[in-house]
Amino acid sequence: MAFDFTLNGRKVHVAGVPPQTTLLDFIRGQGLTGAKEGCAEGECGACTVLLVKANGSGSAFVPVNSCLMFLPMAAGQEIYTVEALANGGRLAECQQAMVDQGGSQCGYCTPGFVVSMFAEQYRPERSGPCDVHALSGNLCRCTGYRPIADAAATLGAPAADRFTERMQRPAPSIGAVNHGGFLRPTTLAECFALLAAHPGARKVAGGTDVAVESNLRGRRFDALISLEALEELRVFRASANEIEIGAGLTLTEISARWTAAPAVWHEWLPLFASPLIRNRATLGGNLATASPIGDGPPLLLALDARVRIAGPQGERMLPLDQFFRGYRQTALQPGELLLSVIVPEPLPALARFYKAAKRRMDDISTVAACFAFDIDDRGVVRRARMAYGGVAAIPLRAVEAEETIVGARWNESAVHRAQDVMERTLRPISDHRGSAAYRLALAQNLLEKFWWEQQAEAAA
Ligand SMILES: Cc1cc2nc3c(=O)[nH]c(=O)nc-3n(C[C@H](O)[C@H](O)[C@H](O)COP(=O)(O)OP(=O)(O)OC[C@H]3O[C@@H](n4cnc5c(N)ncnc54)[C@H](O)[C@@H]3O)c2cc1C
Ligand code: FES
Ligand code: FES
Repeated sequence: MAFDFTLNGRKVHVAGVPPQTTLLDFIRGQGLTGAKEGCAEGECGACTVLLVKANGSGSAFVPVNSCLMFLPMAAGQEIYTVEALANGGRLAECQQAMVDQGGSQCGYCTPGFVVSMFAEQYRPERSGPCDVHALSGNLCRCTGYRPIADAAATLGAPAADRFTERMQRPAPSIGAVNHGGFLRPTTLAECFALLAAHPGARKVAGGTDVAVESNLRGRRFDALISLEALEELRVFRASANEIEIGAGLTLTEISARWTAAPAVWHEWLPLFASPLIRNRATLGGNLATASPIGDGPPLLLALDARVRIAGPQGERMLPLDQFFRGYRQTALQPGELLLSVIVPEPLPALARFYKAAKRRMDDISTVAACFAFDIDDRGVVRRARMAYGGVAAIPLRAVEAEETIVGARWNESAVHRAQDVMERTLRPISDHRGSAAYRLALAQNLLEKFWWEQQAEAAA
């Protein structure tokens, strides 16, 4: 019913705090009020803090949204807030750069920006200037982004200091937690026993969906079973036949490990939320939440992925196109969880991902599409996958549209035939993000865009 974690270098003992308290609320209650609550749903970055995570034999400072971490998720972790960055009244380089470049006005967003900028400056793999996209999960409503980007641009490699010294040492490993209904098992067997003992429990991985339900919709869970300490969900294996990606790896971790990832992965990843979210969001969580507008399903459906499911009776494998059963419903039985996602090799020769949203970056899809084709030397389509989110209650492949072009030449008339089939077969829903007619038109037009982009590339 109690646990410890390290906050700004000091051990903190937590007892008697409700399990759905956010890390943000807790640290602010400790008087560390640099991190702010702007939205409580991962959109603004005002609450950014640093987690110390493993990086090879050393560590890295990973920025995350503290509003989306339930406090018991911090158990055993080492966390730094903006207050830790200055040393004896001397500002950290990134803080001084913000002052020098005029990067702050009202200051509400500033601690969040500073923490993201700090993490980028100290990012172990960084060479050259700071990547301004590292700040893309932080919003500012008054300064404007130019002076903030200018501040980031002035930062070189970090000087040797207590933080670079900390990075030489390993990150803490997280263990079991039992805190007022928040349970974190460390083995699959324990996890299945807990799921059986708490049939109403909600599984939680990174929490970027579950914490939004808690914070914004006031949802209170009978129990939360955290999957974060299960090593079985953190595998990454690449062989000649397939890539196996642990369901519990964050998107950032997958990107670091999948060194031979196809171009479509690199197209997809930056369109998925923000770096702060990607540092916590898992691929398993993205599939299991079964949102019709999630971005993972179209990508993985187009790549013919399968999912490995584990339960008390053992393991089973399912093609991803049989995983989604209805609006927010999956083939997971009570007591089961997603272990990994398997992407078969060889990957399709031609694959593109498109996301139509109100904003280009850091927004949820209205319609997302992934097209994956193999086309032979004569221009004949040998394999076609057209996978969509946002055109039905579940993510799906437009199978009949695919069938109409396989075996035929890939040309404009094939595009129109597939569009005609979509007109008959896709049944989008209307909601505040887009009407059914608009979504259908998007689905059709994205295929056409895919075609015209290839023509442009061939002509270039
Ligand atoms: C600001 C913001 C922006 C976002 N932008 C995007 C976006 O651009 N695209 C997008 O697709 N999504 C987006 N999301 C949604 C979310 O980040 C993703 O769905 C994410 O991948 C969820 O992963 P998680 O580990 O945080 O899941 P959690 O919140 O921990 O869990 C989500 C659900 O999956 C279940 N679950 C988790 N892991 C497993 C498992 N291994 N086995 C069985 N069940 C499991 C949980 O019980 C829960 O029901 C966004 C969210 C926020 C807050
Ligand atoms: S308060 Fe806005 S992202 Fe956390
Ligand atoms: S300085 Fe006011 S919101 Fe950024």
